[in-house]
Amino acid sequence: MTSELQDLFAFLSFPSVSTDSKHKADLLGCAAWLVEKLSRIGLDTDLHETPGHPIVIARNAHVPGKKTVLIYGHYDVQPPDPLNLWDSPPFTPVIRDGKIWARGATDNKGQMLAHILGIEKTLREKAELPVNIILMFEGEEEIGSPCLAPFLMANRNDLKCDIIAISDTGMVAPNTGTLGYGLRGIACAEIKISGPARDLHSGLFGGAVANPATAAAQLVASLHHPDGTVAIKGFYDEVRPLEKWEHDMWAQVPGVTDQDFLDVTGSPSLFGEPGYTSAERTWARPTVEVNGIGGGYQGEGSKTVLPAEAFVKFSLRLVPDQDPGVILQKLTKHLEAHCPAGVRLEIMPGHSGKPYVSDPHSHFGKAAQRALGRTFPGEPMLIREGGSIPIVQAFREILGVDSLLLGLALADAQIHSPNENFPIANFEAGIRLNQALLEELAH
Ligand code: BES
Ligand code: MN
Repeated sequence: MTSELQDLFAFLSFPSVSTDSKHKADLLGCAAWLVEKLSRIGLDTDLHETPGHPIVIARNAHVPGKKTVLIYGHYDVQPPDPLNLWDSPPFTPVIRDGKIWARGATDNKGQMLAHILGIEKTLREKAELPVNIILMFEGEEEIGSPCLAPFLMANRNDLKCDIIAISDTGMVAPNTGTLGYGLRGIACAEIKISGPARDLHSGLFGGAVANPATAAAQLVASLHHPDGTVAIKGFYDEVRPLEKWEHDMWAQVPGVTDQDFLDVTGSPSLFGEPGYTSAERTWARPTVEVNGIGGGYQGEGSKTVLPAEAFVKFSLRLVPDQDPGVILQKLTKHLEAHCPAGVRLEIMPGHSGKPYVSDPHSHFGKAAQRALGRTFPGEPMLIREGGSIPIVQAFREILGVDSLLLGLALADAQIHSPNENFPIANFEAGIRLNQALLEELAH
């Protein structure tokens, strides 16, 4: 095994699940491993404690006059559940069919390490980097980066840079250079619907009191019209229309046709807002998604129970110029207005992040396109993303700097799902891409 793959295997073996407090020590261990790795390649590295998981910062010796590039990534991962659907254990990486299989292989450890190893390689070959770099790695991206914005505020001066580069997004098709210039924002919320003081016999009491699980289903059903559009009043008010040049450009992007969406999802058919392709629906249109719904008996067989409560977890994906706070208010109003009689409704807002869009043809956008052109065959594809990286818009607001999204995540990487994987070819290309990118960003 190459030393690069050995590094990746070591990195992937930390179960750095940020949302689960029982893994706190694993996040710390993973951050300490990064500090050790970055120090060993000659970077000046610090671990910053936060109220949550630590932030790791590393830099080379900065030379006045050189451009400063901030590279961002996250070492935390999503929970591996459901565990029984993995073909091999999530934190014991293995190679099969030319791919590395483990939680975090693509999102984000493989992509993030490609940055680090590209820097290591350039330092070994040339003894210095073409730019000043600041590496910033956090352990809370998958829970909405609660500690990072305050850290940016407090360290504004130390983090001054000209441009930010991130490999934590999609590559539309294998071996296809992909520059992301937009991300959807996100607003999360959870609701609890409660009724009777305790679970009841559904024969003795069914019909006499409202059923919280039924009320939850009615509320969920009220959020969309039958054609798939969102029914919340004013939901689309601030949505910036898709531009014609984007519509035309995206029609040429490989790997994202409606048939590709059908193939990669395994759904019986596509469904969503009329008048848009699947790529447009996910990259440029907002949605309301149910992430979890529960209440009542979940075990084998039947149990005649009228549950005392039910819950629903939501995430709303937002596009420019929607604001998560405003949208959560509209959601709250909608839920209160549509809550059926006979139950209590409690709405708990969760984390959120603003949407982002930038100009792919800016000075640095063109440099990123040249680096992608040097690394992959053909012209790079310019896309927006359906996923969210909540800190990216905060980078712009707090540091005043745009982010280049150089994606290496394939559609079948199964990020956030069982059997996450990252092709060795993408890992190696990512290392070369980082080397080309720093050269191109230097001027
Ligand atoms: N790397 C992803 C986002 C992503 C993946 C963007 C692929 C584009 C293509 C990121 O780690 C992620 O999953 N973010 C979460 C953020 C949320 C939990 C605040 C998301 O989008 O669900
Ligand atoms: Mn993720």
